[in-house]
Amino acid sequence: MIYKLHSVCRACGNSELVPVLSLGSQPLANAFTPEPIQHTLFPLEVLYCDRCTLGQLSVVVDANELYPSSYKYVQSHSETMVQHFDALAGDILMAGGRGPVLEIGSNDGSFLTHLRTLGFVDVVGMDPAASGIEPSVKEQFNVNSAIALEQESGFRNLIIGRHVFAHIDDWDEFIKAINHIAFPDALIVIEVPYAPDMLANNLWSLIYSEHLSYVTERSVRAVLKGSGFAIQRVIHYSVHGGSVVFLIKRGEDTKQFSHEEDQLQKWKQFSVDCHANQVGLKMLLMKLRLEGKSICGYGAPAKATVICNAIQLSTRHLDFVTDTTPCKVGCTIPGTDIPIVEPDKLLEKQPDYALLLAWNYPEILDNESVYRARGGKFIMPHSLKVL
Ligand code: TMP
Ligand code: ZN
Repeated sequence: MIYKLHSVCRACGNSELVPVLSLGSQPLANAFTPEPIQHTLFPLEVLYCDRCTLGQLSVVVDANELYPSSYKYVQSHSETMVQHFDALAGDILMAGGRGPVLEIGSNDGSFLTHLRTLGFVDVVGMDPAASGIEPSVKEQFNVNSAIALEQESGFRNLIIGRHVFAHIDDWDEFIKAINHIAFPDALIVIEVPYAPDMLANNLWSLIYSEHLSYVTERSVRAVLKGSGFAIQRVIHYSVHGGSVVFLIKRGEDTKQFSHEEDQLQKWKQFSVDCHANQVGLKMLLMKLRLEGKSICGYGAPAKATVICNAIQLSTRHLDFVTDTTPCKVGCTIPGTDIPIVEPDKLLEKQPDYALLLAWNYPEILDNESVYRARGGKFIMPHSLKVL
């Protein structure tokens, strides 16, 4: 079984979930392969929980399929991320965060390295594909690995999960595991994309098989109910189209309601806007091609796979996509024949237009000032602005 159907809300247990959006059937967004292959396609549909406002995918792909040893996600080192790390670390310090630290889903260790430069000494990362930081535990975070870590190196005072929470199917297990590893007064920092921001800005390319949940404050309150943990503070950041950080501690939730309204109408409108945006983007690319223009894609994040597959782009629309990640270069965008090439091809080929698939890094527009000064133009995929 390579995926299972999901029908009960992972935050509140509601079994009457409402379908709100379909992006068709898509290959796994980070399944970059050297040759174009016939990828397995998975339904990419969102169900909405009317009780706690959580959006969630209708299928959960098996973790061995989603994260094989060839998995190619490495977080970007960019001006946007450095600024975000500074802001997040500052807020953690202001909230009294202190070591020992555990980062769940530590990826290449860049946030822990950042914390070390700020004076945090006892830091450990846990990620099945952990790299860049020692010590690290190459395992999934669950009750067993949390207990093993506690026995080996003790309880943790600061537990950070940056963009890992939305990837997890079993939230109850995740919270139980935190309970096993956290000191009584520990600060838990959970960062996720903020669904209401995604809806407001029509950022549908954030939806792909790894992102099982589209989170609101209300839904996090629902999952924490009765767990012994409660949200202390909610901080919003503009990074990646809008992310939210929940600062959580042991205690009871005293808040009766959240400012977030019912999101059902917003999801319905999002579905309409999403499909209009898809049609608009495809028409724009086709029109430019008919005018004889050359077009490339810029950046091959998972979002690029979602966009290319939702509107069935191929080399008839994009000649190539540039990307800075060495292991993606030489591959194709999953589900397409579009080759991924080194970043210097942008100036070498100087295409008339570059579709900014890595749209969450606004500094790219400044960094590519030479391309633009020579007449190259960026197309923003969700707003269709040409800059
Ligand atoms: P991310 O949104 O998951 O961090 O992925 C961004 C992708 O875009 C990643 O594959 C690296 C690529 N990228 C570039 O090619 N050029 C850039 O300037 C930046 C910031 C990212
Ligand atoms: Zn729910």
